[in-house]
Amino acid sequence: MSDKLIIFDTTLRDGEQSPGASMTKDEKLRIARQLERLKVDVIEAGFAASSNGDFEAVQAIAHAIKDSTICSLSRANDRDISRAAEALKGANSARIHTFIATSALHMEKKLRMTPDQVFEQAKLAVRFARNLVSDVEFSPEDGYRSDMDFLCRVLEAVIKEGATTVNVPDTVGYAVPELYGHFIKDLRERIPNSDKAVWSVHCHNDLGMAVANSLAGVKIGGARQVECTINGLGERAGNCSLEEVVMAVKTRRDYFGLTLGIETKHILAASRMVSQTTGFVVQPNKAVVGANAFAHASGIHQDGVLKARDTYEIMRAEDVGWSANKIVLGKLSGRNAFKQRLLELGVQLDSETEINAAFAKFKELADRKSEIFDEDILALASDGSVSHEDEQFVFVSLSQHSETGERPQANVVFTAQGKEVKGSSDGNGPVDASLKAIESHVNSGAEMVLYSVNAISGSTESQGEVTVRLQNSGRVVNGVGSDPDIVVASAKAYLSALNKLHSKAERVAAQG
Ligand code: KIV
Ligand code: ZN
Repeated sequence: MSDKLIIFDTTLRDGEQSPGASMTKDEKLRIARQLERLKVDVIEAGFAASSNGDFEAVQAIAHAIKDSTICSLSRANDRDISRAAEALKGANSARIHTFIATSALHMEKKLRMTPDQVFEQAKLAVRFARNLVSDVEFSPEDGYRSDMDFLCRVLEAVIKEGATTVNVPDTVGYAVPELYGHFIKDLRERIPNSDKAVWSVHCHNDLGMAVANSLAGVKIGGARQVECTINGLGERAGNCSLEEVVMAVKTRRDYFGLTLGIETKHILAASRMVSQTTGFVVQPNKAVVGANAFAHASGIHQDGVLKARDTYEIMRAEDVGWSANKIVLGKLSGRNAFKQRLLELGVQLDSETEINAAFAKFKELADRKSEIFDEDILALASDGSVSHEDEQFVFVSLSQHSETGERPQANVVFTAQGKEVKGSSDGNGPVDASLKAIESHVNSGAEMVLYSVNAISGSTESQGEVTVRLQNSGRVVNGVGSDPDIVVASAKAYLSALNKLHSKAERVAAQG
């Protein structure tokens, strides 16, 4: 058995299914480039048949990314599979990932199909996909809650049809590590042709055990592919977190005995990019990428680390992309220094136009904030609206007045379809007044379901990063904005969410 663990990232597919985490094609492309830099083996770029937008995103990623295999999800039918194959044309290395539910509950209640019908459809789907690409993955959805005998029958048949990877999803996050590990082991031992495919694990985090379950699937079960997402992004409680699984396997190589292709120093930039693009903030105590992950607050710990780092540290912060929180650039820094720092942080903007736009924003920021930290640069680079192309609404300026005992007033100038407009309103506070000023002109009618502010580099001089989540006609979107003035950051975040609501992409959910 190979000692290489394949890292299959599904941030752009399963991660994106999380309500509010939907991304534009350009955002997905930017994240895909970061995943390629991270040397992820397989990037699940989307679910091509679910919407035209997703089709185009998979297509764009298949064209742009050269070093990772690009995968599209598809249900087990000819139309979905053909659509996936079409989107993947032009990829250096393409994979179709087809799935159908196999648990009694899903077959009866959701699919309204008999086990024999599901068995036939799974076989035909893999046969059809194998005629289009040589790399085919099959997933029995809700596999962990499926009947073992039936699952053996289905997986043996799809391997015979040419599935090169078989994945065993714990779709609802019900598994516990030991049992899941043995489940994979039993499947591999019972299925006569199991050695003809790579075994993969796909765990959801409903009971907080997605990483532990995945690692048990690897250690006990012998799986050699882990499906995961940056920051553990995903529906409900999320998916297995890429950074945790990768650092566990790397740090405990003595135990797992496996190799990885991942360039771990790009992990933090990927985490920041995903968080800033989706508006899903990373909790400070999150392993590996949380702000406190390498912070030693207690005197005893600080003393120990100063004397010998490994007294309290099992990983090196630099190995996952952390550098000291130091001033890196200032107002006199030039374009080359800015570009160089972006590269050192593992960020490569896609075109000269984007670099110029980000540099202009950097200069604007440096005029107002004398010390620019890595966090500020990452926020600039991750700002999905760096080039403002295809954007309905773009922030221009804001003025507001607030005084104790008086109701705040705000005026916001922004462009709507290229035309400058101004909205004015009062409100409970300056943020409320500013967002109402925008709304007075836009009349979106959207409901705000989340508003959060975060200090990017942790002091009052830092930029505020605001996330706004809006809901309208059943769609949920997140907008993110950053600025040293949190009222301005809020207005930017609100406009960014309105832009997303405006791009009316409808999609079919994989587990619908
Ligand atoms: O969780 C799941 O079952 C899935 C499949 C579509 C692979 O995401
Ligand atoms: Zn899933």
